[in-house]
Amino acid sequence: MEKLVVEGGKRLSGKTRISGAKNSILPILAASLLSSEEVEIKDVPDISDVEVMLDILECLGVNVSRESSTLNLNPSSLCTSEIPESLMCEMRSSIFLMGPLLGRLGKVKVSYPGGCDIGPRPIDLHLKGLASMGAKISEESGYVYAEASKLRGSTIHLDYPSVGATENLMMAAIFARGSTKIYNVAKEPEIVDLQNFLNKMGAKVKGAGTDIISIEGVNYLNKVSHRLIPDRIIVGTMIAAVGVAGGEIIIDNVIPEHLEAVIAKLRETGIEIWEDTDSLLVKVDRIKAVNSVRTLPYPGYPTDMQPQTMALLSYADGISVIMENVFDGRFGHVEEFKKMGAQITIDGRSAIIKGVNKLTGAVLKAPDLRAGAALVLAGLSAEGITIVDEIHHIDRGYEKLEIQLQNLGAKVKRVHAPVINV
Ligand code: UD1
Repeated sequence: MEKLVVEGGKRLSGKTRISGAKNSILPILAASLLSSEEVEIKDVPDISDVEVMLDILECLGVNVSRESSTLNLNPSSLCTSEIPESLMCEMRSSIFLMGPLLGRLGKVKVSYPGGCDIGPRPIDLHLKGLASMGAKISEESGYVYAEASKLRGSTIHLDYPSVGATENLMMAAIFARGSTKIYNVAKEPEIVDLQNFLNKMGAKVKGAGTDIISIEGVNYLNKVSHRLIPDRIIVGTMIAAVGVAGGEIIIDNVIPEHLEAVIAKLRETGIEIWEDTDSLLVKVDRIKAVNSVRTLPYPGYPTDMQPQTMALLSYADGISVIMENVFDGRFGHVEEFKKMGAQITIDGRSAIIKGVNKLTGAVLKAPDLRAGAALVLAGLSAEGITIVDEIHHIDRGYEKLEIQLQNLGAKVKRVHAPVINV
């Protein structure tokens, strides 16, 4: 069992580069199943969710090779649409393999997907959309089966702008007969990245980034080379890290427009952020409380930044309020912060945070991916040593978080249990 050990009190300085986005690469890997030719993807992050997804693709018959951050796939040898349960359970994102597998092979069998424990995560919107495109869906003993020799274009209204459902249905519609229009879609930048990837292969998708996506069915997708957009949540995490630890850093490989809500809100806390074309300069002295952080679908404040923002506001002058509107039950980190002396009260969907001057190092468990990163951030300024356990959650989405922080001067190291000398 590995742990991260954080010694608080070091200000951050220097430069850090952001890798390709986790939430882009996962749907893009799924979408690559639609091609019968070579797929090259650049700037692929070295994270465990990608490893799991590649294991799934290999089980489905895809040839995979990787050289540093470039991935080459050959999906022409795709031979089955049954996803092994052991792998499916490891990652919720495997659900959006349904759309491309149905489109390419006409049937798919998946088990109910895994992923972070951040409250109930139903898949009804995915299934309703696929059914309206003509898929026959049945569910039995934890498995979902879908079948359609040829999907047909349809008009779909999503009850909620779900990121995964938008992506799944976009991919399902690529080989459908006729045109598909999906209303009330999610507008995240990763959906635009997926559209760009699909269109480079010859798909006809438009509207990503707006409320309506239209897809004209095609019969074949060509080879493609694509560079992923940078991970905006890691950018946000790094900004929050400077906010907690103090100091001044430059963050490279950033698309500032993807972070408008994050930059605006974090500036309210007193963090100074200067934007350049593809980088940010971040500097901070003191953190002020903010009385309203509301997570919302993009372009609102991302739920994936909620725990890191809570780490920051735990140190703020005054009382802050965070309202979690996207996921029920995404407050698993609060009890861990409290072990460090944070003063946080939960009231329904809101967390009321009374900032304290100092948190104290403690032994903590990462409850999920972003919450795990937030605990590490909280440790950056805590008095003494913070030990974060269950860091496999963090490794799902951060490429060696400890190295990235060490390079900025933080004292964070990965150790194998048991911890004897810190
Ligand atoms: C994606 C992101 C995740 C992020 C989330 C919200 C990826 C790989 N993951 O997850 O990092 O936290 O968007 O920005 O891109 N819902 C339903 N029925 C459905 C689908 C979703 O009720 O069929 C609900 C969920 O329970 C949740 C809300 O919709 O309350 C948002 O979920 P969704 O946008 O689908 O998130 P994911 O795609 O799972």
